[in-house]
Amino acid sequence: MVMSKAPSIRLENLAVGYGGKAVVGGLNLEFPGGRLTMVVGGSGSGKSTLLKHILQLQPAIEGKIFFGGHDMCSLSRNQMHCIRQRMGVLFQDGALLGSLRLKDNIALPLREHTRLKEAEIMDIVADRLELVGLGHALELFPNELSGGMRKRAGLARALVMDPQVLFCDEPTSGLDPVMSAELDQLLLEMMRHFDMTMVVVTHDLASMRALADHVVVLGDGRCLFQGNLEELERTGDPYLRNFLDRTAEGRDAPRLTRPPLGQDRGVMKRNCDKILGES
Ligand SMILES: Nc1ncnc2c1ncn2[C@@H]1O[C@H](COP(=O)(O)OP(=O)(O)OP(=O)(O)O)[C@@H](O)[C@H]1O
Ligand SMILES: [Mg+2]
Repeated sequence: MVMSKAPSIRLENLAVGYGGKAVVGGLNLEFPGGRLTMVVGGSGSGKSTLLKHILQLQPAIEGKIFFGGHDMCSLSRNQMHCIRQRMGVLFQDGALLGSLRLKDNIALPLREHTRLKEAEIMDIVADRLELVGLGHALELFPNELSGGMRKRAGLARALVMDPQVLFCDEPTSGLDPVMSAELDQLLLEMMRHFDMTMVVVTHDLASMRALADHVVVLGDGRCLFQGNLEELERTGDPYLRNFLDRTAEGRDAPRLTRPPLGQDRGVMKRNCDKILGES
């Protein structure tokens, strides 16, 4: 096996949250270099919050984040700028700018952060769009793309600066199972092609099972598990089993307290019935 040069991400006693209140704390984790770590957990468990903090979009409450050998909290502005350029992010909806054609959306980081000539930029843009199967869509605007195409376009943009670490937040949400499986495959290919470390946040267990080298499970304000997929699948921990087996056991069923509107719709309903010839 070829040794990866991609950096690992290490968290030391990290607590993340908002307004000084922790959402998840006591995190001592490593996302190994050149491998794919899945961060999973129920809705609201703090997956996106953790990602935002690693990307330094939010200050940590306590603890440290290391990118390779660099302590992210003690970097100068210039050093931070350089580290940022080594990180690619695929946001949930692709985060494309609606007013720009696809080619200009993808070119944005190159125009902002490099001094490449326009012809070189367009060469890279065409290459990346080709890689994600959107070579034909350069001239389209984001609202002319399907959800799956938008995700792939977001991936092309995340890859345009040749990042060493790629973060993806819910890359398969909103996609049908076939498209999800295709995107999973694409992510794997990209990781190998570019020799990257990947951190993928998801609650898609099928994706987790298809992709993960390493898994981190968040819940109850802490890390409930870190290790490989086989260890996780063997767990006897009831919370983890519940999560893996996707049962709602032990949860109170939601109770409906208000009756349907029924006759309260009154005039409006009678009017509609009349218009539809049902009265
Ligand atoms: N900007 C914010 N300010 C204050 N609280 C926030 C903010 N963003 C998220 N939270 C809170 O942090 C907690 C974790 O949210 P987060 O978005 O990280 O969850 P998640 O695990 O990504 O969930 P999902 O699977 O639904 O995306 C939630 O209780 C949420 O209300
Ligand atoms: Mg989230």
